[in-house]
Amino acid sequence: MTRLILMAAGVCVVMQAASAEKIVFDTDPLRFTDDGHAAVMLLRSPEKVQILGMTMVAGNAWAAEGAGFMWKTLKAIHRTDVPLYLGAQAPLVHTLAMAKEEARQWGPLAYIAAFGRPFTADSGAARVQRGNAVDFLVRTIERNPGTVTVFAIGPMTNIAMALRLRPDLETKIRQIVFMGGNVHVPGNVTAYAEVNFWFDPEAAQVVLRSKIPRKVMFGLDICNHAVMTRAMFDEIVAVKTPVTEMFKDSLGNHYPEFLKKPGATGYIWDCLAAGYLIDPSFVTRSEKLYLDVESNFGKNYGAVRELDRKLAPEATAVEVMLDLDVAKFFRMYKNLLTRR
Ligand code: RIB
Ligand code: CA
Repeated sequence: MTRLILMAAGVCVVMQAASAEKIVFDTDPLRFTDDGHAAVMLLRSPEKVQILGMTMVAGNAWAAEGAGFMWKTLKAIHRTDVPLYLGAQAPLVHTLAMAKEEARQWGPLAYIAAFGRPFTADSGAARVQRGNAVDFLVRTIERNPGTVTVFAIGPMTNIAMALRLRPDLETKIRQIVFMGGNVHVPGNVTAYAEVNFWFDPEAAQVVLRSKIPRKVMFGLDICNHAVMTRAMFDEIVAVKTPVTEMFKDSLGNHYPEFLKKPGATGYIWDCLAAGYLIDPSFVTRSEKLYLDVESNFGKNYGAVRELDRKLAPEATAVEVMLDLDVAKFFRMYKNLLTRR
């Protein structure tokens, strides 16, 4: 299938390939980090992926702020035509007060995501469509039964809300490809839990216990192998484009601060999940497991654990991605981020 991109008066019209995978992109953007990179990767792969809409969720930033960050990314690649929907403005149960109590009882938290930012409900709100993310998810799955991929790279609050609103849609989702959790390696917030699952453990539990026919997990097990080095950063910023300028500022001056700390390294978690939708052949090892999330408030809050199948007899297994060919993945990532 061929694709045609027409540029007229700064407006980009992308002709999608008929065979492109339809996806809803559920995200928690912050500046131009991995969520933004994932958006650029997928929007520059119209022969593989058609993004029907982006749904914002509280995670790295509050949901409305996230819409503002994503809109800037879309503007840089002339794709403000992609509709953004505002979703859950807070996790189902978890709160800042609970996070403070976790730190007090069980030790410091490495990152508290939006809990560490002043709450805002309107900083990016002007950029979003009328209607909310959960209704958009429901409507989109209903209209495209069996053909929509949910691409989830933040906490799973919106998706859990959609599944609770319309349980009949669980089996109408084609698959969920998500970044979140950790199976055989430590967490990145606590020793036990990864950020996306930790921020909203109950939502991740709803999704892992669901009947969604296929669940593909990019957790810390695989993401920890894709270490971004200063040399990789330099290769990308050597190509000057509006996208690489944002990349330089975000990764250079914020996390992981390549311009301030030459020895720094970082991760680009969500980009691996995006890469999988473009060309999954960079994954070299995976396993299939029945998984659940710890939702009891304690030091393991948000950690992945084995599913007791008596609690969710119809839950499907999770394909857990474990390792990758880093050079092969980086070639794809660099090519998509540096494209003019
Ligand atoms: O643990 C990594 C996840 O949290 C990613 O989705 C990334 O965006 C981060 O904030
Ligand atoms: Ca994310």
